[in-house]
Amino acid sequence: MNSHSIALIPGDGIGVDVTKAAMRVADAAAARFGFALKTTEFPWSCDYYLKTGEMMPADGIAQLRPFDAIYLGAVGWPKTVPDSVSLHGLLLPIRKAFRQYANIRPHRLLKGVEGPLKAEGFDILCIRENTEGEYSGAGGRVHQGTPDEVAVETAIFTRAGVERILRFGFESAMRRRKKLTSVTKSNAQKYSMVFWDEVTDQLAKDYPEVEVTHTHIDAMAAKMVMAPESLDVIVASNLFGDILTDLGAAIQGGLGFAASANICPDRSAPSMFEPVHGSAPDIAGKNIANPIAAIWSVAMMLDHLGEKPAAEAILTAIEAATATGVGTRPGSHSTDAITTAVLTALEA
Ligand code: NAD
Ligand code: IPM
Ligand code: MN
Repeated sequence: MNSHSIALIPGDGIGVDVTKAAMRVADAAAARFGFALKTTEFPWSCDYYLKTGEMMPADGIAQLRPFDAIYLGAVGWPKTVPDSVSLHGLLLPIRKAFRQYANIRPHRLLKGVEGPLKAEGFDILCIRENTEGEYSGAGGRVHQGTPDEVAVETAIFTRAGVERILRFGFESAMRRRKKLTSVTKSNAQKYSMVFWDEVTDQLAKDYPEVEVTHTHIDAMAAKMVMAPESLDVIVASNLFGDILTDLGAAIQGGLGFAASANICPDRSAPSMFEPVHGSAPDIAGKNIANPIAAIWSVAMMLDHLGEKPAAEAILTAIEAATATGVGTRPGSHSTDAITTAVLTALEA
């Protein structure tokens, strides 16, 4: 029997609620498809920080490295721990340490879900650069608190980093509808973004079958609202991809539907799976968070681990539930009710 070791980090807020739901579905899929999931839970979170002074132990990365995959709920509880501390102490270092440079975020309308747009039938795969760019962490502050204060944060784009994410995008496009949109802001940012455009054109020569479009981030924001059905694969930098994928979540019905995978493509380290949404303090612990994004992220994890039939069965079960109206409107069903509907469909 195949066995996969999973490091489970529920984190904060609804991260805890949706991880519980997602793991119920993961365990049911393992039982039905005949593989084992050996999960080890880590309490790393803002609560953990308040108790210990750190988001994870100093050897946290070393503890995670042997696992086949990491599943994370959400991190952040800004009332007690600044986001600049919590995210830089847990989520962001994991993405960087394990070279999870491809953040894959699918956006499509599930059966039965009505998005806020007239559009139907869009199917977008956003590939977000996940380890450098605007999130490089290069910068500093001087003369703090004085009128002369200076804050600098430098976006860093390396040829290795830009090439590998674009190549990942081209390879993804080849497996889909062979359309790739490279998103930049090269009309205003004349060094990094012009460089990104050039690398896109250089790589395009290796993929003559892929239709390549260059679109500026502002125009892309409008296009995702006005004509999302015209898009296939989008490749964007770390910050642009972050913003576009909350927009993607919105057009697919809300943050409760958007799944994501932080992939280390050469598999030299574990990949990490998590919903796009955060810890949603406004609804935490109330059994009202939509767990579909988290459950879909489990499907992406099982697919990555080679359990394709189980991954496909979970997506089919999610849509069997949403097709009957379960979880399709905010507040219509509890977290538990949506999870149970997915489980029932999975076991049918
Ligand atoms: P958020 O995604 O947590 O919430 C934004 C809005 O969407 C809220 O109104 C929330 O109730 C709603 N929402 C989110 N997920 C939902 C779900 N599954 N079902 C129903 N409604 C849902 O974003 P935020 O409010 O900007 O951030 C809250 C905290 O989470 C902050 O600390 C932030 O830094 C952190 N955060 C963490 C991650 C992560 O760990 N991956 C991602 C985003 C934000
Ligand atoms: C996401 C989140 C994170 C990001 C934050 C919490 C640092 O918004 O995964 O989309 O910007 O990457
Ligand atoms: Mn985000």
